[in-house]
Amino acid sequence: QRSLCSMNDLSVDEIMSILNDARLFNSSYSDWQLPLKKCLVANLFFEPSTRTHYSFESAELQLGCKVADFNAETSSVTKGETFFDTLKTFEMVGYDCFVIRHPKTEYFKELEEINVPILNAGDGAGNHPTQCLLDLLTMQNEFHTLHGLKVAIVGDILHSRVAASNRFTLERLGNEVRFCGPEEWERPGYPTMPLDEAVEWADVVMMLRIQRERGATLAHLTKEQYLERYGLTKERYSRMQKHAIVMHPAPFNRNVEIDSDLVEAERSRIFEQMANGVLVRKAVVKRAFGFAPFEE
Ligand code: CP
Repeated sequence: QRSLCSMNDLSVDEIMSILNDARLFNSSYSDWQLPLKKCLVANLFFEPSTRTHYSFESAELQLGCKVADFNAETSSVTKGETFFDTLKTFEMVGYDCFVIRHPKTEYFKELEEINVPILNAGDGAGNHPTQCLLDLLTMQNEFHTLHGLKVAIVGDILHSRVAASNRFTLERLGNEVRFCGPEEWERPGYPTMPLDEAVEWADVVMMLRIQRERGATLAHLTKEQYLERYGLTKERYSRMQKHAIVMHPAPFNRNVEIDSDLVEAERSRIFEQMANGVLVRKAVVKRAFGFAPFEE
């Protein structure tokens, strides 16, 4: 299995191997490249992205891949070509690996007849496996364990693929996850906790932005009111445990879900998360090309 569509595709051992490879890409294997004559990767983003798109591209280029960027607006999608037929075309013209972001939840189920590894860069409100892996790497670097942590995920839970991927993976690894935010954005079955309790309880406070592109709106609140009720304010930050960290998948909206100054605060790991994204994406691209985990 070389595709990565959902964190459920990975056993706990495979998750740990990918994180180990990611760490080694940051140390003894920093110059490692795919020993292949041909490794053509197509980055197919049908939704906007900065971090995922360009950290995948950085990872691919560092590994020696040749990279094609796809723009739906200048492609034959505009002439009515279907998603499946677009992907089949990329397969038939010689690409070896697809990185795909698409607004449809579980789009990859339509692509079972495609014979090229797929790396899911986000499907609607469904999954964001490489974001989950980079979040795990960030937590592991901080706490030297991925077991027994308390993680509060805060904000627009309903529309967030990050919340979904992280919840089930963190629980599978033996951590506790609680969700905070407006009632209208709760997900059925997701355990909640009042935000003011959660900031004192958590080892990790993970903030999420409002996903307006998926219809989320709290039009009755100003930005200031949203921050005060549901966001990470300086007062809430001051009540976090001394060892606790702030995370956010980004893009963040300063002074909406997080006080602008806290983005760069001492216990914020938001920029480390971005750097870790390149390392885990190098690991999943290497795996997609069939290479076994590194041996230390
Ligand atoms: N975290 C994340 O997925 O960011 P982008 O939407 O910029 O890729």
